[in-house]
Order: sequence, then structure tokens, then C-alpha cells
Amino acid sequence: MDMDEPAFRTIIEPFRIHSVEPIRMTTAAERADRIAGAAYNLFQLHADDVLIDLLTDSGTGAMSRDQWAAIQRGDESYAGSPSYFVFRDAVRDLFDFEHVIPVHQGRAAERILFSVLGGPGRVVPNNTHFDTTRANVEATGAEAVDLVIAEGRDPASHHPFKGNMDLDALDALLTERGADVPCVFVTVTNNSGGGQPVSLANLRGVRALCDTHGKPLFLDACRFAENAWFIREREAGQGERDVVDIVRDMAALADGMTMSAKKDPMGNIGGWLALDDPDLAQECRNMLILTEGFPTYGGLAGRDLEALAQGLKEVVQHDYLRYRITATAYLGEALQKAGIPVLSPIGGHAVYIDARALLPHLDPLHYPGQAVAVALYELGGVRSCEIGTVMFGRRPDGAEVPAPMDLVRLAIPRRTYTQSHMDYVIEVCQRLAERAHRLPGYRIVDEPNALRHFTARFEPIH
Ligand code: F0G
Repeated sequence: MDMDEPAFRTIIEPFRIHSVEPIRMTTAAERADRIAGAAYNLFQLHADDVLIDLLTDSGTGAMSRDQWAAIQRGDESYAGSPSYFVFRDAVRDLFDFEHVIPVHQGRAAERILFSVLGGPGRVVPNNTHFDTTRANVEATGAEAVDLVIAEGRDPASHHPFKGNMDLDALDALLTERGADVPCVFVTVTNNSGGGQPVSLANLRGVRALCDTHGKPLFLDACRFAENAWFIREREAGQGERDVVDIVRDMAALADGMTMSAKKDPMGNIGGWLALDDPDLAQECRNMLILTEGFPTYGGLAGRDLEALAQGLKEVVQHDYLRYRITATAYLGEALQKAGIPVLSPIGGHAVYIDARALLPHLDPLHYPGQAVAVALYELGGVRSCEIGTVMFGRRPDGAEVPAPMDLVRLAIPRRTYTQSHMDYVIEVCQRLAERAHRLPGYRIVDEPNALRHFTARFEPIH
């Protein structure tokens, strides 16, 4: 071994802490009171009643010194701001699309694109639609279908690329209903399926089918860098490559992308829609002006555009990604060791507890995921997110069916919590597992027509 480069087992956070935020301890009695007051919906809590907030990795990461510095360079010109060009060039350096359209967050890109491409009778395939993506497809009257491989629906499968698209199913859909399909989507990483990656080989397979059937391919690319790191670690022939080159390969296979810049681009807000087709881009820009803003700022301030451009440079650094993926695995593997069923392999941005397996005494329509999420808060002030029957159980026709899985996501904000925070979360989860058999199910007492998980009111079934 080279004496100048000793190998250490401990993978450290590749940063020092520069500015700190207090977090507030609460008592068990306070938490019981707060969660009842929120009608057992964790989205309705006040965040300062939460100790460790793993609700989402979206917009909750810590920006770097250089991102805060970039904010000072933000130029707030209404049209033609230099900050737009800094942003556009940073996006294109990774995703070389002709048209880069900023928006305030990912769902704005989805709404704009599907309002042009969607509509009654249309059908949009994806490996797995995220909740807002599905809702934006369905809001136009179109149908959203999930075609992830069978292993991607099996929480115990160890397939290295559980986010892969089922190519046979996609081919069948394109053959049977080709005329109804305006575009094909692939979500990297597959968030609703457990933060699982899609391989380059699978993306090439999707591309080939899109070529055969004459369809554009779009990436929902929120967690592209984590996906690329998994490709580097797991896909044959990729282990020596720079993540930047892997990302460029992913982008080159697509015709466009929607993006939430609140994830891998390390922003607190932001997103974009990027694509090559000039006519489609023009229609999308017209929609953008209606609701988001002029095309050189979208829904963002110039300073946001600068912060995102810098974030894009930081997220593809290997030291960062090695730490990021290792830190997520640290939490997941500790839960596995404690006998808690978690979705495997451990995903990129989150650990997903298999609530249906942990609470076998509960019917899926009594929301085992909600039961686990509420208990994690009551026990330790940890906020997580149900990704299961509450989120996906209500169909557009009004019927309620169990989701394929009842998961509870512990999403890890980027660069925000330390290893001792995670050790505390592990202890809370262990405490929960000890009393799992006693946890009550929930019923919904009030819900809106769509995206019910954000505002539904629950009560425990005693
Ligand atoms: N696509 C995926 C795969 C997502 O995970 C999200 C957001 C979006 C699109 C929408 O982006 O929030 O900027 O409008 N996911 C967050 C989460 C909310 O918690 O996973 P957005």
C-alpha cells in the first residue's frame, strides 16, 4: 500500500460546521399533545416541535459557504439576469439540453410539461411516479402508470437497481397504446420505490424502446448524483469513472428532464424543466410566463439561481457522495441489525421502514405506515413520512386500495445531521420496534380530493 494514502474505515463528513441552528427538546407529554392537535398528521406539526426532522430531504439541506457567497452575486434583473446564464451553464455542464427553463420547484416543471403533453385519454409511463408527479399527470385527465421491475416492488429483494423500468411492460404499453403516450418518464433515483437507482443499461433499454416507438424520454432527475454514484459502485465497467461523466451519459439518453433542485442541487428552493424540442420548449415557456415568471428567472430570485449553480458543482464531488451514501447506509444497516424490517438495499437519500412487515397485526387500510410515523414522533420527536396507503391508496375513481407497500421514509437532509443524531434515531427506532405489536391503527376522519396525505385528519383506532 502507498504509505502516503493510508486507508481508514471511518468515512467522515467532508465538511466542518460553520453556522449552527438550535433544535428544541420536548417532553413525551408535549409531543402527545402536539400530535393529537395535528390530528395525527405529521405535515400539520410545527417544525419547532420536532427534534430530528426526517420528513423530507427536499429543501432541507445545509447550503455551503460557497453557496451563501454565490447568493451575494445574485442579480435580480427581471430579464436577462447574468445569474440565469451562470445557472443555465451549470445545468448544461451536466445535462446538455438546449432549453433550460427555471421554475420555483419540481412540481411546477411537472405542471407545465403535463399541461402541454397530458390530457384525457393520454397515458404516461414512469418507473414510479412521485406523488406530485402522479397528481400533475392525473390533474390533466391523463393516466399515470408505474412500470418498475417486479424486484422494485419487493421490499426484501437485493437487486442492485431496483429502480429499473420493466422493459417488457413498457414495450407492451407502447405497442398497445402508443398513440396515447406523449412521453416516457424515468425517475432517478426511484423515490417512491425506496430511493433505488436505475442502471445505465436499463436507461439504454428505455431509450431503445422510445426510439422504436418514436417517443421522447424525460428524466425526473431530482437525485441524479446519488443515482450516478450507485451506477459507479454497482454497474459493471463503471467503477473507475467520474460521476460527472456518468451523469452526462444519463442525460445524453434523454430528450429532457424535470427537476426539483431542492434535492441533489443543494437548494432550499428551485427547479427546472430542460429539453431539446424547440416547439415544446416554446409552449412550456408560454405556460411559464403565465404562472412562474419570465424565462430567465422562472419562479426564482437571481440569488437562488446562483446558489443552485454552485450546488450542482458540489453534489458531484466524490468525497461528498461517498459520505452521503455511506451515511444513509449507516442508519439503514443499524436498523437491520436491530431486526427492524427495512427496504433493501438501502437507498440513496432515505431509509424506508417496511411498516406492513413491522406491524403485521394491522390491515393496510388501517395505515401501518401512519402508525409507525406517529409512534416515532411520540417516542422521540423524530418526524418521518408515510409512503404507502395514506399517500397512494385513494384512486382517481374514489376507490381506496392498499398501496403496493406501506413504507415509512426516514429522509436524510443533505449535510445537516451528524452521526450522533443518527445514533439517537436508531435508538428511537429500537424503542419503537419493542412496542410495535401494541401500536394502534388509524382511520381517516377528513380528507381532501387529492394529495390527501398533506392535510388528512386521522384518529387512532383503539
Ligand atoms: N419528483 C420526485 C422524484 C420527488 O421526490 C419530488 C419531491 C418531486 C418530483 C417534486 O419536487 O417538491 O420540488 O415540487 N419530493 C419531495 C420528497 C417533496 O419529500 O420526496 P418539488
